[in-house]
Amino acid sequence: MSDHYAVIGNPIGHTKSPLIHGMFAEMTRQNLVYTAIEGSLGGFATDVDRFRQAGGRGMNVTAPFKLDAFAYATEHSDRARLAGAVNALKFDGDRVLAENFDGIGLTRDVVHNLGCPLKDKRVLLLGAGGAARGALLPFLAQGPTVLDIANRTLEEAQALAQEVADLGTVRALRYAHLETEQYDLVFNATSASLRGELPPVPATVFAPGALAYELAYGKGLTPFLRLAQGAGVQQLADGVGMLVEQAAEAFAWWRGVRPQTQDVIDQLKIPLV
Ligand code: ATR
Repeated sequence: MSDHYAVIGNPIGHTKSPLIHGMFAEMTRQNLVYTAIEGSLGGFATDVDRFRQAGGRGMNVTAPFKLDAFAYATEHSDRARLAGAVNALKFDGDRVLAENFDGIGLTRDVVHNLGCPLKDKRVLLLGAGGAARGALLPFLAQGPTVLDIANRTLEEAQALAQEVADLGTVRALRYAHLETEQYDLVFNATSASLRGELPPVPATVFAPGALAYELAYGKGLTPFLRLAQGAGVQQLADGVGMLVEQAAEAFAWWRGVRPQTQDVIDQLKIPLV
């Protein structure tokens, strides 16, 4: 019988995870089934219990269950603990292991796929919610010269900077403070793009040769990417590579074999127009 994996979220209709993991399984000749489960709001633990009782081996977790998954797990990686959120679970008898591969997937996409190392670079993260949290540890591990977080609610960014103060220097800034700063890599980790909004970031933040990266996927040229394009930024990216890379990390964690990602990214890419 095939091993069973699933992604759980609500809504879940839009998910690309079964497609991605199906391609990975074929590529690596792994015998598994990967499905999508619409979790019931307030019933996460019951849904996961049922999946495990039926022999389920692991799960990806998406909105709005990343905190429920954190609470459900019995063992957390450092990454999951700092992010305070979980996007992958592995079941091993009574043990429920928790991981968060979003930030490492993002970092891998930027460094390996887009060829933009963060080492000795000036990096700006817009937003201080779950997405920004996940990126912080993997970003710091790359050794940027500067890592700044800008957020409308300054206290959120300050709290985040404080949590990683032992691991590197992270500054928390107001958007207005960005008028006098420039960065080599600028990441939009706010949820503004989901509503077609633009964070109040000045067009002058992009240094010559900068990369502008939108963590959201499949939205085309978001207001943030449009701003960057108007400012002359040549390298624009959305979160498709991040999506596929985090999936590859989960797949490797579950199956012990890391699939190639480039073909899958190319298939899922939606033109930035
Ligand atoms: P996620 O898990 O996607 O990160 P979240 O935890 O709700 O979502 O965090 C949303 C982030 O997007 C926050 O940093 C929020 O800023 P505030 O903390 O100041 O609210 C940011 N955000 C959402 N809409 C925004 C907008 N229009 N402009 C700037 N920042 C925005």
